[in-house]
Amino acid sequence: MSGKKFSLQNGETGESLELPVRSGTVGPDVVDIRSLYGEQGVFTYDPGFASTASCESKITFIDGGKGVLMYRGYPIEQLAQRSSFIEVAFLLLYGELPNAEELEAFEQSIRTHTMINETMLRLFNGFHHDAHPMAMVAGVVGSMSAFYHDTTDIQDQRHRDIFAHRIIAKIPTIAAAAYKHAVGQPFTYPRNELNYAANLLHMFFAVPAEDYEVDPVAAEAIDLLFTLHADHEQNCSTSTVRLAGSSGANPYSAIAAGIAALWGPAHGGANEAVLTMLQEIGSVDQIEKYVAKAKDRDDPFRLMGFGHRVYKNFDPRATIIREACHRVLAKLGRTDTPLFDLALRLEEIALKDEYFIEKKLYPNVDFYSGIIYRALGLPTSMFTVMFAIARTVGWVSHWREMIIDPEGRIGRPRQLYSGPVQRDYVPISQR
Ligand code: ACO
Repeated sequence: MSGKKFSLQNGETGESLELPVRSGTVGPDVVDIRSLYGEQGVFTYDPGFASTASCESKITFIDGGKGVLMYRGYPIEQLAQRSSFIEVAFLLLYGELPNAEELEAFEQSIRTHTMINETMLRLFNGFHHDAHPMAMVAGVVGSMSAFYHDTTDIQDQRHRDIFAHRIIAKIPTIAAAAYKHAVGQPFTYPRNELNYAANLLHMFFAVPAEDYEVDPVAAEAIDLLFTLHADHEQNCSTSTVRLAGSSGANPYSAIAAGIAALWGPAHGGANEAVLTMLQEIGSVDQIEKYVAKAKDRDDPFRLMGFGHRVYKNFDPRATIIREACHRVLAKLGRTDTPLFDLALRLEEIALKDEYFIEKKLYPNVDFYSGIIYRALGLPTSMFTVMFAIARTVGWVSHWREMIIDPEGRIGRPRQLYSGPVQRDYVPISQR
């Protein structure tokens, strides 16, 4: 506790209550309201949790006003420029950057756990060819609890480590199997000599009929996008993983719940929605029309990839990805980039518009990520799957932190009940 207090006064009784205030290392203080219901018989009301800290965490910090994002204290700009996704995964999981030996051992462990139980591959045959890959990936990751139940004693640290390595290593394999099922190609087995991003590209794009060489530019781009997507503190899907896991549920099921939450267009599904939107807008002369639609209260249309619950100035990940778009498209030799040009122009117009300025709506991480994924040859329906692969590292890190949190309890919010008061059952003949 910080020693600071926050007082609340009950307007009816005049009674006041001193609540302890807790300070983090950075960021706003939090008022500890745990005694509120016991002492005053009232709940707090905060739908969407805009003012509620659901847990204490040491993993990721965001200052939405200043556009700051740090993993374990390291600014995202430095990690994006100097680190790799696997190193970032170690950092998020274990709290510190690895030394050379630790990094090698971790990378080796991830590389050698990439195969999945062969029976799992058969599950894909049960899906229709046009099933959305997110549906397949959520289902098959959930099924892992039926395959790997030997190491899910969540109180055992070794089991937790094995779970972490397994899911991080295997989720690209599951994602690639979903892709291959969707395009009707045979599954490509992982290659342990390749690094995380290169192996993913190999599993997606190699076919038995010819040799496939991973393009280092593509692998580098995937690595960067995964680094940027790896964690984002208590977002919707991470909170879902924590909540599902708080009951002591099998951790693979908790990750499957996170994947399901990520799929929504207000969250990770936005990268797919941005591309669909840009294609629908089609040309620069249509932008004004769509901006007007986004501003119209009677029209449900929103500019996808714009706005964020926390960032009210800019999303630092979007800034990095916008620059990466220029670089990657140029390196891939794409000179004709109509969708990227359209996105740049849309951003420019929206950022000058009073509506977007007043509501502090800026491009978020998903505004540009799909443009890179598309340039790498991935179909739009796989974009959110890519996000899920990267965010698995964050989900697992938060799940691990939650499991050993001495203050951790099952997540169980309360409510403001506004349904009928007690009434008597009416027999069906009298209704
Ligand atoms: N286009 C037009 N108007 C918008 C947009 C948008 N993209 N985003 C928010 N607004 C408006 C809302 O209509 C609302 O206006 P009002 O105050 O007049 O009612 C105001 O801005 C605040 O919006 P909320 O929905 O209350 O903000 P919230 O913090 O709950 O939602 C969210 C944030 C979901 C990201 C929202 O901005 C949105 O829907 N954006 C588009 C989807 C998207 O890009 N999601 C990805 C987020 S990043 C991620 O999860 C990886």
